[in-house]
Amino acid sequence: MTTSLLEVRDLRTYFHTDRGLFRAVDGISFSVDRGRTVGLVGESGCGKSVTSLSVMGLVPDPPGRVEGEAVLFEDRDVLRLPADQRRQLRGSKMSMIFQEPMTSLNPVHTIGRQIVEVLLAHTTLSPKAARDRAIEVLDLVRIPSPAARFEEFPHRLSGGMRQRVMIAMALACEPALLIADEPTTALDVTIQAQILDLLHDLQQRLGMAILIITHDLGVIAEVADDVLVMYAGKIVESAPVKDLFADPQHPYTIGLLGSIPRLDVERERLATIEGTVPSPDKQPAGCRFSPRCPFADRRCREKPPPLRDVADGHRVACWHAPIEQHAAGATT
Ligand SMILES: Nc1ncnc2c1ncn2[C@@H]1O[C@H](COP(=O)(O)OP(=O)(O)O)[C@@H](O)[C@H]1O
Ligand SMILES: [Mg+2]
Repeated sequence: MTTSLLEVRDLRTYFHTDRGLFRAVDGISFSVDRGRTVGLVGESGCGKSVTSLSVMGLVPDPPGRVEGEAVLFEDRDVLRLPADQRRQLRGSKMSMIFQEPMTSLNPVHTIGRQIVEVLLAHTTLSPKAARDRAIEVLDLVRIPSPAARFEEFPHRLSGGMRQRVMIAMALACEPALLIADEPTTALDVTIQAQILDLLHDLQQRLGMAILIITHDLGVIAEVADDVLVMYAGKIVESAPVKDLFADPQHPYTIGLLGSIPRLDVERERLATIEGTVPSPDKQPAGCRFSPRCPFADRRCREKPPPLRDVADGHRVACWHAPIEQHAAGATT
């Protein structure tokens, strides 16, 4: 028995392609407790989306293969569930929203019909009750005049409204876990703030757990209780959000924090991380961040550092941790 709603154990998702073996997610473990918000952050290409697709059971196979130990959801290993049971979980107990709502909404059906279909597939509601419930969830995600909007087609809505419809669809069956993969990246900042606020409010009301994926630490600061920092298919640091911001330990995290624009810090003092995320078929030996790391020495280049505790609930995969903040050149 575990106490977590979701417990991911040594998840490895590899793509077997003509061009080689892509280790997109390479042995990550984490858990999400009921009602909590966990943020998964890292630059583009780090394996965040593949992580969420692996949990949802949506990795295309071939070429993808999930070779991990277990993904326990409510104590059941969903990696070993028959496909029909897995499908039944999706959209009911665990659901997902994506970055670009237009790719997930069907352009030829009204938004109301799309929500009703989710409800009819996963509940025993009558068509009439499903319609009432759909209008109720449109209202819940603060869509004005929900009964009128029910009849609307997706292209008639703004980006922000479409993302609200996606959230409504994801929440229609009151999932225990919502995975939100860059839910606000395609939106302008004002709308982004509204959507984050909405997610937070819905979580308070419905008590669901959220795994929010983003490349933006500003978003994490806003919504997360706990943070996982991912780099090149691995988790390099995990901590409660306050500890991560107050005392970041991995040079990668420190770099990410340095690249958050801050109004109170002079521009030239802002650190950025040189270089790019390695392709998953060309992972460096040793620490995967070592080619970009100002601290890297021979041990770093030869031996991968294990994720270890540096403080209560704070884990880091760096041979040099704990790191003195001033030495890291972090902006404080
Ligand atoms: N279908 C696929 N076939 C081969 N490689 C893939 C596939 N999907 C994702 N990848 C690779 O996995 C890596 C991680 O991708 P992704 O999880 O989308 O990154 P992120 O969401 O962090 O930006 C990328 O290098 C990407 O090229
Ligand atoms: Mg992604």
